[in-house]
Amino acid sequence: MFKINENYLKLPGSYLFSTIGKKVKEYKSANPDREVISLGIGDVTQPLAPAIIDALHGAVDEMSKAETFKGYAPDLGYEFLRKAIVENDYKKRGADISIDEVFISDGAKSDSGNIGDIFGLDNKIAVCDPVYPVYVDTNAMSGRTGEYLPDLQKWSDVIYMPCTASTNFAPELPTETPDIIYLCFPNNPTGSTITKDELQKWVDYANKVGAVIIYDAAYEAYISESNVPHTIYECEGARTCAIELRSFSKNAGFTGTRLGFTVIPMDLKCGDVKLNSLWARRQGTKFNGAPYIVQKAGEAVYSAAGQEQTAKQIAYYMNNAKLIREGLASAGYTVSGGINAPYIWLKTPDKLTSWEFFDLLLNKANVVGTPGSGFGPSGEGYFRLTAFGSYENTLKAIERIKAL
Ligand SMILES: Cc1ncc(COP(=O)(O)O)c(C=O)c1O
Repeated sequence: MFKINENYLKLPGSYLFSTIGKKVKEYKSANPDREVISLGIGDVTQPLAPAIIDALHGAVDEMSKAETFKGYAPDLGYEFLRKAIVENDYKKRGADISIDEVFISDGAKSDSGNIGDIFGLDNKIAVCDPVYPVYVDTNAMSGRTGEYLPDLQKWSDVIYMPCTASTNFAPELPTETPDIIYLCFPNNPTGSTITKDELQKWVDYANKVGAVIIYDAAYEAYISESNVPHTIYECEGARTCAIELRSFSKNAGFTGTRLGFTVIPMDLKCGDVKLNSLWARRQGTKFNGAPYIVQKAGEAVYSAAGQEQTAKQIAYYMNNAKLIREGLASAGYTVSGGINAPYIWLKTPDKLTSWEFFDLLLNKANVVGTPGSGFGPSGEGYFRLTAFGSYENTLKAIERIKAL
């Protein structure tokens, strides 16, 4: 008789977005005349930029002719894309990364989940609280997190690093030593980030204790302040302790097109074993590459036209972020984020729980956001709004919240 992976049975139900969906549906059917605006989704809404569309069309045409047709992509991804990444995302930032350290993928979600394949099960992970849930859930699926403790909403074998107002929404170095540290800056859900000096402390710490940092920089394109690092490899010593995850989803609107990459420096070793070689082996065995046409589209993101057009889209979203941030602050809300990230994190008023505030916003303002408690116990009493909607809807939503 076959056996299942029992770790899956330990996972708590993923109630967050299904509960939100259910509540919104119920409200809409009871109030069909009301227009509900969502500032809850983490998905982009602007269409792919013209330079990207042109590249996609060109690549589709190449696939139609025997002379230019492409089959399986090279294991690490096409060199034209890896070169563009190294030049633009790393060399221009003074970070020493070479093309054989870049692995093209279908996005940061799968890489952040799959990266656990190359680590032993007895590694202890440390995560921020609140956190993008994929890091914890995928480790739970592999059996690396112990037992789920429903009362605490925590796993017994995970080190949680609270990120609250008292820590400026950044984690502090843990007292218990982890083996794998997940960091995400700019952060989803809090919209916070850390300076290069602060990140350097994490790199020094990881090198000292022999830990690896998995650095998720999916929101790098939203950084506006000059002291915020765009890549962990701006920090000295990161080549011996850090893996970086990147995505084309939020900088160029590829959430439905799917493209990302992971960087593993050759200097990152466990004894004599290079993690780069293990990941190459893993990807070569379990992954057959992102489509050629999508990799050509990714290359176009780095063209002059692509850079200009995607920068405009990011500016559009960040204008929404400013509107939300300043609008709510003027109405007396305590807000953070929204400066280097498309997320605004606000303290719920009058000591309401995250879900009580959700209900209030839905019923009284017809605005949907995301309860902070859905991202971890330290998210209780907070609420996430996103800047990915249209300007008109964002403006309307904020006016409604202000009028509450
Ligand atoms: C922190 C973080 N990492 C990764 C992802 C997923 O990125 P991708 O679309 O490349 O899978 C998201 C998406 O919301 C995210 O918030």
